[in-house]
Order: sequence, then C-alpha cells, then structure tokens
Amino acid sequence: MIQFVLEADRDLFEEAFRFAQQQVRKLIEAHPDFYPMYTSNGHWKHEGPSWTHWCDGFLPGMMWMFHKKNGGTAATDKYWLEQAIRYTTPLEARKHDRDVHDLGFLFMSTYYRWYQLSHDQKLRDTIIEAGKTLSLRFKENGQYLRSFIGEDSIFIDIMMNVGIIFYAARETGDRRLRDVAQRHCLTTRRVLVRGDGSTAHEGIFDVATGEFLRQATQQGYRGDSCWSRGLAWSLYGFSNSYEYSRDPRFLETAEACADYYITHSNSDGVPPWDFNAPPESRKLLDTSSAAIAAAGLLRLCRLLQDPVKGHYYWSTAILILRTLCEKHLAKKDKKWEGILKGGVYHLHKELGVDESVMWGEYFFVEALEQALLQL
Ligand code: GLY
Repeated sequence: MIQFVLEADRDLFEEAFRFAQQQVRKLIEAHPDFYPMYTSNGHWKHEGPSWTHWCDGFLPGMMWMFHKKNGGTAATDKYWLEQAIRYTTPLEARKHDRDVHDLGFLFMSTYYRWYQLSHDQKLRDTIIEAGKTLSLRFKENGQYLRSFIGEDSIFIDIMMNVGIIFYAARETGDRRLRDVAQRHCLTTRRVLVRGDGSTAHEGIFDVATGEFLRQATQQGYRGDSCWSRGLAWSLYGFSNSYEYSRDPRFLETAEACADYYITHSNSDGVPPWDFNAPPESRKLLDTSSAAIAAAGLLRLCRLLQDPVKGHYYWSTAILILRTLCEKHLAKKDKKWEGILKGGVYHLHKELGVDESVMWGEYFFVEALEQALLQL
C-alpha cells in the first residue's frame, strides 16, 4: 500500500514537473527576456507595479532545475542550459544593488546553481560580492539587516537572504560577515518569532538607541497576526541558517515555525494568506506559502536527528505537494500562463491576488525536484 502511494505520488510529481517546463517554455517564447513577477487574470505581461524588485532570479532558477533534472532528451537539456545562462547573466550587476534586501533570492537561485554545475570561480566571486553587499544593510544599533522599507525596519523575509552572507563568510573565511549573519538571525528569532512559533512580518526599531519597539506588517493582516508566507520564509530560512551555522537555536526555531504551520494550516496542507485574518478573509489561500513550506520541510527533515519527526515533516511536505498538484495546478485552464494558481502577493495593494506568483512557481518546482530525488 505504501509502495502504491509512493508510485502514485511519483507519477503525479513527474507530471507536474513536465507541466512546469511547458509553461515556462511558453512564457519565454511569448515574451523573450522578460522577468515577470505575478500574473493578472492568469497573464504574466501586464501593467501592474512590482512594489519592490526582488523576483528576477526565480525564472532562471527554475531553468537551472529543469536542466539538472531533465527527464527529456539531450537536446532539451541543452535548451534549458542555454536559457538558464541567458536569463542569469543579466543579473550580475545586481551584486551591487543596495536598494533591496533580496540578494539571496536573486543569486542563490541562479549563480549558486550555475556555480555548482560549472565550478567557475568567477561565478563564486559574484555570489560572494552579492553577500558582501547585503551585509552592508547591517545596523549595529539593533543588530539586524534592515529591510528595503527603511533604516528602522526588519522583515522576516530577510531570513531567506541571510544565507548568502553565511555563504560568503564560509568561502572567504571572513568572521565579520559570519557574525553579521549570525546576529541578524538571533535578532529575528528574538523580535519576529513568537513563543508559539508564529511570526510577525516586520519589526520596527528605534534607530538612535537600537531598542526594539513593535511588531508590524506590510503584507499581512496586521502587526500581531501571522502572515502565512512570512511563516514559510521563516521555516525555510532558519533551516537554511542552521545548515550553515549549526547553531541549535536556529534548528529549534525552524521546528517551531514548522509545527505552527502544520497545526494551523488547512488539513490538505495549504494555509490561508494570513492565519489570523477574519474568517471570511481566511478563505483566501496562498499556495505560494504552501510551496515554500513544502520546500522548507524537505530541507528541515534532512537536518533532524529524530527520525520520527523527520518522517512527519517529510510526509507533510508530500501531502502539501499532492494537494498543490491535484487542486491548484493551472493545467485545466488552457489560457492560464502560470503553473500554480492561488498565490497572493500583496493583498492591501491589490497586487497578484489569487494569481500565479513567480516565487510560488520556483519553490513548487524546487519541492518537486527534492521530493522526486527521494521517492
Ligand atoms: N516581499 C516578499 C514577499 O512578498 O514574500
């Protein structure tokens, strides 16, 4: 019976992986050299604003995964390699981008994957440079990497980016860089992760004294609520930081976030956009949170000593992926250009609500790739 389920899942996930390749291929043939962020009525090209410029790594990131995993012919592998290089190379200049806190998203999805294949030192140098640039956001007063919003603001999302500073520290032996990354994680854990494992999206500091003032939000329901994508970023980000640092506090935090996610999401594994929004509003799901959580749980389960808990996280990730494949793939809607329906970008600004979102696509593909390695 268990074998039967695993085989059914494998077929389901392989099929979803093929569908993802088809959709990305159609997108880049229809709109060459365009880096979309979210769909509008299922279409990637539209006039809507981006709010902040953080998503350009996800499209090429998927291409690197397609190239690596490809079940197709050698010609298909070559196609994805060429496209991945074509879409990755223009990002290089962003290693000096001081306007965003998203250099981990941009470079670990692209240059890091490229470097793992080619071992070209120039690629590694680009990642290190980007890590150094991100570290310049560190505020001694308060001990955090500031968000793109302002000097006084920390975001939970930065947990997904701090890994590039750990990476740069490891590759260069620069202890100050490692210290910046470590202290940012400890501050995030203290001010944004609550005792029950839920998370706040944003925190506000007094820049003059470094005193932490309050929890806040940009994209969640309110400052004291738990925005589901923030929780998923935290689950994944603390797992990743534990992998670099081996600091047991980060593993403990990742587990607390995972347990909150599992006990508060719907029984099929997909959460509302914010766990504490009013009941009517909670009917709006965010499949991108689910995709990130599945990818994060697949990382976290490898790091645990306890095999029972590891299996619990693994099975939850599989359940989430099964739900995404069975209920949320855009397959039946021939006009829809994305892979996964039902993502939410910024509800208050009415950007990408109940749409496909590029990070949802990327982490869905990553989770499928990781699950398929072990099924
Ligand atoms: N600002 C990153 C996100 O929308 O998750």
